[in-house]
Amino acid sequence: MTRSIGILTAGGDAPGLNAAIRAIGKSAVRSHDMKVVGFLDGFRGLLEKRHIRLDSESMSGILTRGGTILGTGRAKVHKMSIGGQVMDMREAMVDNARSMGVDVLVCLGGGGTQKNALRLAKAGMEVITLPKTIDNDVWGTERTFGFDTALNIATEAIDRLHSTAHSHHRLMVVEIMGHNTGWLALASGIAGGADVVLIPEVPYDIDAVAESLMRRKAAGSRFSIIAVSEGALSLEEAARMEELRDQKQAASTEEEKEAAREARADFESGRSDHTTRLAEDLEARTGIEARVTILGHVQRGGTPSPKDRLLATRLGVEATEAAAEGHTRIMIADRERTAVRVPLDEVAGNRRVVPLDHPWVVTARRLGMGLGD
Ligand code: F6P
Repeated sequence: MTRSIGILTAGGDAPGLNAAIRAIGKSAVRSHDMKVVGFLDGFRGLLEKRHIRLDSESMSGILTRGGTILGTGRAKVHKMSIGGQVMDMREAMVDNARSMGVDVLVCLGGGGTQKNALRLAKAGMEVITLPKTIDNDVWGTERTFGFDTALNIATEAIDRLHSTAHSHHRLMVVEIMGHNTGWLALASGIAGGADVVLIPEVPYDIDAVAESLMRRKAAGSRFSIIAVSEGALSLEEAARMEELRDQKQAASTEEEKEAAREARADFESGRSDHTTRLAEDLEARTGIEARVTILGHVQRGGTPSPKDRLLATRLGVEATEAAAEGHTRIMIADRERTAVRVPLDEVAGNRRVVPLDHPWVVTARRLGMGLGD
C-alpha cells in the first residue's frame, strides 16, 4: 500500500512543473490521505535528503507560478559529482527513500530524467515519471508540459520581429530552442508565419535557403523571417553527426567511448554560434542585411499557459492514481487527450523527433515555407 509519495523535478525547468507538483500532491493528500514530500534540486536533493513537506499550505498558490518550487538540476544518478569525484549513487538514493518512508518516487522531467528514473527503478525504487520539457521530444507521449507556453512565447517573438523586419527590409534570423528536435521551431514558425524554418530533422542546403530568399525578393517581398531550431544542421554538419554516431556505436572499450564523447562535445562546442554564422552567410549570399535574435531561456520563463496547466494537472492526478494502485515503473503520457501509463523501459533512451510526414511538415511545405532542402 502506498502511504507516502516523494516528488522531484529534474533537467531544465519548464512552465507547468508547479501545476504538476500541486496536482500530484493535492490528489494524494485529499483523495488518498498520503504523505507527500518534495526533494530539492532534482536527484541531488534525494541523495542529500534535502526535502520539504508538501501540504495544503506549501502547495497553495503555486499553480500559476513558472519554474519549479522544488528547484532542479541535471545530475545523473549513476555519475554524480561528489567532492571532485564522479560516483554511482543509485543505491544510496534508494536507501534514502526507504529510510524516509517514501514508497513511490514521482520524477518530473524530460529525456534525461526518464533515463535516471529507470536507473533508479532497476536499483529497486518504485518510480513513476511525467513528461516535461519545452522541447516536446519525450518518447511515448504526444505532448509534454512546457511546450505550449514556450510555443506562445516563440510565436509572439516571431510576430514582433515581423514589424521591424518589414520596416528595415531585413532578414531576421531567430534561433529557437528544442535541443535536437524541431517541434518548437516548426510549430512557432508556422504559427508566426516564418518564411523559412530550419529544423534538425531536415538538414539544410545553404544554397537552397539563399535561393528561396532571393525568389521571395524577386517576387516583391522586401523582408524574410527565418526560424532556426538550435539543433538545425547543414548537410555537411548532418554528415559529420552521422560519422560521430557511427563512432559511438562502434566504440567497445572505455577509451573508445571516451574518445567518441569528446569528439561529439567538440562538434557541439564548435556549433555554439551557428545561427550567427548562418545569418552572416545568408547576408553575404543574398546581399540583404541580416540580424539575429537568440530567444534562449526566455522561452522557458514565466506563467504557464492554461493548456500546460491543464495537461500537467491531468497527468499529475493520474500519477497519484497509479501510485495508489501500486502501478510503477511507468510514465504517465498524453495520448489522444487521455492520460495513459507507458512502461518506463520503452520511454527511457528514446527520443521523439519530428517525422518527415508529420502534418506540420506537410502544412509548411504546402504553404510554400522553405525548409532548407
Ligand atoms: O531541454 C530544455 C532546454 O531548454 C533545451 O531546449 C535547451 O537545449 C536546453 O534545455 C538548455 O539547457 P540549459 O538550461 O542547461 O542551458
